[in-house]
Amino acid sequence: MRIAIAGGTGTVGAPTVDAVRAAGHDPVVLSRSSGVDLVSGRGLDEALDGVDAVIDTANVSTLSADEATAFFTKASGNLIGAAARAGVRHVVLLSIVGIDRMPHDYYAGKVAQERVVEASPVPWTILRATQFHEFAGQLFERAKLGPLHVAPRARVQPIAASAVAEHLAGLAAGAAQGRTADLAGPREEKLDEMVKAFARHSGTRGWIPSISLPGAQMKGMRAGYALPRPDAVLAGETFAEWLAAHRH
Ligand SMILES: NC(=O)c1ccc[n+]([C@@H]2O[C@H](COP(=O)([O-])OP(=O)(O)OC[C@H]3O[C@@H](n4cnc5c(N)ncnc54)[C@H](OP(=O)(O)O)[C@@H]3O)[C@@H](O)[C@H]2O)c1
Repeated sequence: MRIAIAGGTGTVGAPTVDAVRAAGHDPVVLSRSSGVDLVSGRGLDEALDGVDAVIDTANVSTLSADEATAFFTKASGNLIGAAARAGVRHVVLLSIVGIDRMPHDYYAGKVAQERVVEASPVPWTILRATQFHEFAGQLFERAKLGPLHVAPRARVQPIAASAVAEHLAGLAAGAAQGRTADLAGPREEKLDEMVKAFARHSGTRGWIPSISLPGAQMKGMRAGYALPRPDAVLAGETFAEWLAAHRH
């Protein structure tokens, strides 16, 4: 099968390209760096020629509900429109566990994106996954008060991006399922402890205080709204196993 991966150069998109190839399929990357802009539509029709299934892992870095909603509705809307024109048989969206329990900030955009996919004329599957193990390193870089690194508190059940990638590749090769069970890592973790463990692993010494970040999304994550439902599929390494196995 020919399977297109929107956002195929990203944190989860790049391993998804690898997983699609490892499963014996032919991956096509849709990203601005490969000449396809999902927001303007540039290059999209040409790239989807002969494609059987599409996996949507494109992303925008913003905390703004308006910016996230504008990006995700436009990008996924254009992708689905082009997929329908190209005769694509299946669109798979990667979403995030618990977004409807805290539909604020960036998550407002993900809720709006799910609605676009649910209205798709192309048969669809929506997979909600929990935060990636890689999130700890991203937060370590970004969460700072001046020169001081800080560790945001939240309840999470993180998963390796590579495990999400393998799951997405499997879904795309099969029939459309609508909404599927949540996908999560093997155990619940404290996000602030993950950030501190990442910092120690990458050689940072010194005090990293735990903090409660403002904002409705982070408040919801402290309340446990980002944890998977009881019927979730659990996959991949624990955070500690993942950290030990990787150089960062
Ligand atoms: N991070 C998490 O913990 C987590 C957990 C569950 C689900 N998710 C979801 O997983 C998805 C991927 O997240 P990520 O962190 O892997 O993303 P990421 O690393 O930020 O990568 C974003 C990708 O989107 C592409 N992209 C951005 N704007 C584009 C545009 N206008 N046209 C075409 N491609 C564009 C980028 O390529 P170019 O820059 O080359 O365009 C890149 O390949 C998101 O939908 C996110 O909500 C994330």
